[in-house]
Amino acid sequence: MTISNEEIISRSSHASRASIFVEFLLSRFSSDYLSTGTGVIDVAGGRGAVAFELQTLRGIPCTIIDPRGNEDCVNMTDNKNPLHTGEIVGKTGWKAFKKLPQEKNGLYGTFATRLPVMFNDSIPDQYPSLFRDCSIIIGMHPDSATDFIIKVAARLGKPWAIVPCCVFPTANPHRKLLNPPEIGGERPVVGYEDYIEWLKIESGLKDIVDNNVGGVDWLRFRGRSLVVWKSAVLWKSVNTTS
Ligand SMILES: C[S@@+](CC[C@H](N)C(=O)[O-])C[C@H]1O[C@@H](n2cnc3c(N)ncnc32)[C@H](O)[C@@H]1O
Repeated sequence: MTISNEEIISRSSHASRASIFVEFLLSRFSSDYLSTGTGVIDVAGGRGAVAFELQTLRGIPCTIIDPRGNEDCVNMTDNKNPLHTGEIVGKTGWKAFKKLPQEKNGLYGTFATRLPVMFNDSIPDQYPSLFRDCSIIIGMHPDSATDFIIKVAARLGKPWAIVPCCVFPTANPHRKLLNPPEIGGERPVVGYEDYIEWLKIESGLKDIVDNNVGGVDWLRFRGRSLVVWKSAVLWKSVNTTS
């Protein structure tokens, strides 16, 4: 029986967004690559669902950068509270956690490191070895950190993958797109589609023809589910003054 896209989406609960994003990362970058050096930097990781999928379930080292404190995080250490944890990571995640081969790899069953700070383009200077040795910088709905991820990754020559969400046009009046020639002039970036377009231009993805190097893919969950990503170091210089 073939499952339609609509059915797949309707089966994909909010809680499984993290595992769908991680499956995407694994398919594009491989577990071995993601595990290199200090591993994945998860910017705006929130309650830690993506980091849980990476480090706790798969043994891929991960560092969350988000001012949210630990008290708000996925708490898989509380084994007596499976409903609470199941709500956050999904039943699949909970079942997978219970079956972890914890003896296989020192990182399985452990929790990501959390740096409770706001991410911006000066943060790498505060954690130089973490950023120098990381495999990739990612963000799932990273709000105000989105543009910084691209800037920082471009500067350090690191791959990145972002699932953009909010546009915040008022806070970002510098984002502009050219109108079609018949209209002329430029327009501010206000809507989601224009923001995706702007991110592609800013990051040089517009110039890439090989879709194994970077692009925009659709993740099968509800809501803002386009992932913009880049694996290569063929950077367009991005505006670091904005
Ligand atoms: C919409 S939530 C997404 C959380 C998580 N990635 C997810 O998909 O469930 C946005 C998160 O971004 C964090 N955030 C916003 N701006 C940030 C910044 N500049 N640096 C780090 N985290 C930021 C917030 O604290 C919040 O946890």
